[in-house]
Amino acid sequence: IFENSAEGAISVAREIAALIRSRQQQGELAVLGLATGSSPIGVYKELIRLHREENLSFKNVVTFNLDEYYPMQPDELQSYVYFMHEQLFDHIDLLPENIHIPDGTLPIEKVKDYCQAYEKQIDEYGGLDLQLLGIGRTGHIGFNEPGSSIASTTRLVKLDPLTITDAAKDFIKEEYVPLRALTMGVGTIMKARKIILMAWGEGKAKILHETVEGRVSEEVPASFLQQHPRVKVVVDQWAAQELT
Ligand code: F6R
Repeated sequence: IFENSAEGAISVAREIAALIRSRQQQGELAVLGLATGSSPIGVYKELIRLHREENLSFKNVVTFNLDEYYPMQPDELQSYVYFMHEQLFDHIDLLPENIHIPDGTLPIEKVKDYCQAYEKQIDEYGGLDLQLLGIGRTGHIGFNEPGSSIASTTRLVKLDPLTITDAAKDFIKEEYVPLRALTMGVGTIMKARKIILMAWGEGKAKILHETVEGRVSEEVPASFLQQHPRVKVVVDQWAAQELT
């Protein structure tokens, strides 16, 4: 629990930097699972600073993003492709061929094979070393809404009405928010060797309490993280206020 989100974000960025540097020394890749939304922005800001001021290179980094709206064109302002480039990728030396973000432009008949291939690609890189997560007020991680099973894999999902309401701020009007998304599954996330879940602000306090201290169930998909051997929950004092 950190005093504020800025301090929490710096600590998460340092942990990511340490992983990247230790892999560099061994001549190996670091495979990162990344999130979008407001929660990781401070982490990305600090990673950019480390790149500019402390020589942190991302040349040995491979990234897989959690999710993307469906349908979605990459050049739309609300796309997660646009977000990742603006918030991180355009400011560091990550190689374009090492970036993976679910493709929201695919025709529906190609989605199933594509999702299986996304899983396979992660496996071919030896799995995710570290998965960064935010949490939605529904208890979603990625876009695994209530009802998602622990074994779920990358797939097309329907967004929960509360998630659509929360996304409306990015889309001008609620009716413009896509009803669906492509997301890594809970099972995909659980296979990561290490997971960091971030939550800032009192709006996340209730769901954070249910996630960390509540019963493990599909009703709160993030609660499955209780069963992961190496998960760290990084929060500010406001998100932590309902923890006992
Ligand atoms: C984003 C994602 C979502 C968000 C969650 C919280 O890639 O997978 O699960 O992490 O909706 O969003 P913010 O951080 O905007 O509160």
